[in-house]
Amino acid sequence: MSRIVYVNGRYLPQAQARVHIDDRGYQFGDGVYEVCAIRGGMLIDEAPHLKRLERSLGELRIAWPVGVEQLRHVMRETVRRNRVENGLVYVQITRGVARRDHPFPAGNVKPSLVVTARSLAIENYDRWAETGVAAMTLPETRWARCDIKSTSLLANVLAKQQAREAGAFEAWFVDREGLVTEGASTNAWIVDAEGVLRTRRLDHAILPGVTRGEIIPLCRQHGIAFEERAFSVESAKSAREAFVTSASAGVIPVVSIDGGKIGDAKPGPVARALRAAYWGSRQGIG
Ligand code: PDD
Repeated sequence: MSRIVYVNGRYLPQAQARVHIDDRGYQFGDGVYEVCAIRGGMLIDEAPHLKRLERSLGELRIAWPVGVEQLRHVMRETVRRNRVENGLVYVQITRGVARRDHPFPAGNVKPSLVVTARSLAIENYDRWAETGVAAMTLPETRWARCDIKSTSLLANVLAKQQAREAGAFEAWFVDREGLVTEGASTNAWIVDAEGVLRTRRLDHAILPGVTRGEIIPLCRQHGIAFEERAFSVESAKSAREAFVTSASAGVIPVVSIDGGKIGDAKPGPVARALRAAYWGSRQGIG
């Protein structure tokens, strides 16, 4: 079955789908995106993903290309047409097509909308959750507004590739103060030496991960001591546990950082409990 994608009002076989070379997404990365997990054919955490999309659009002053209800319909229809049971739906909105010139184009340029859906081998994530994965740290080289889910992801791409070449699943960016910001495509967490679960507070340095936001109330429900407080690379390396969160990964334990073991190099109880609680609480949502 060939993949069907939605591009600016039409569902097309992927091979026939086109975006204009003057699209500002292509020319400048002048666009935003969202990624929602699909489990059992249902969209997971759709409402907070759409809320963040609205915020990202607002920050870049890009208008909705279609109404939100219409977009929700297109997302479902793209999932349905591709028969995705477990996977991801991807939404990209750019400022649209205009003669290449850096400032925002004048006049009524219609934003471009692309929606795709694809299956994910979720058994890989289940396996990684069993064994835990490796992370490496890298200097923060991204721009200063990482809170916007923008499509300007070159620094993230380079970091992820460097991690993969070093045998790591994820790269953790480290700011000038030596504090971990987040992963190339995930949020970063540790259970520190005192047993406190920590992730950086929301500011311009990190993406407000939807999964991150949904995990926090689960910590309270499970009586896990939690603080939104940045941690240093040293604290991460001497942590009891570490893990990453994202729509695609859910919760995946990190068992080594820069080659050094975290705890006993096995997924720890907090990461396991939160992974089970997160996916457990998302059965039958849609
Ligand atoms: N990445 N930080 C960054 C830089 C990300 O790109 C992502 C998500 C996250 C986690 O956010 P959420 O929980 O909302 O998925 C944090 C998506 C999955 C991607 O780019 O494919």
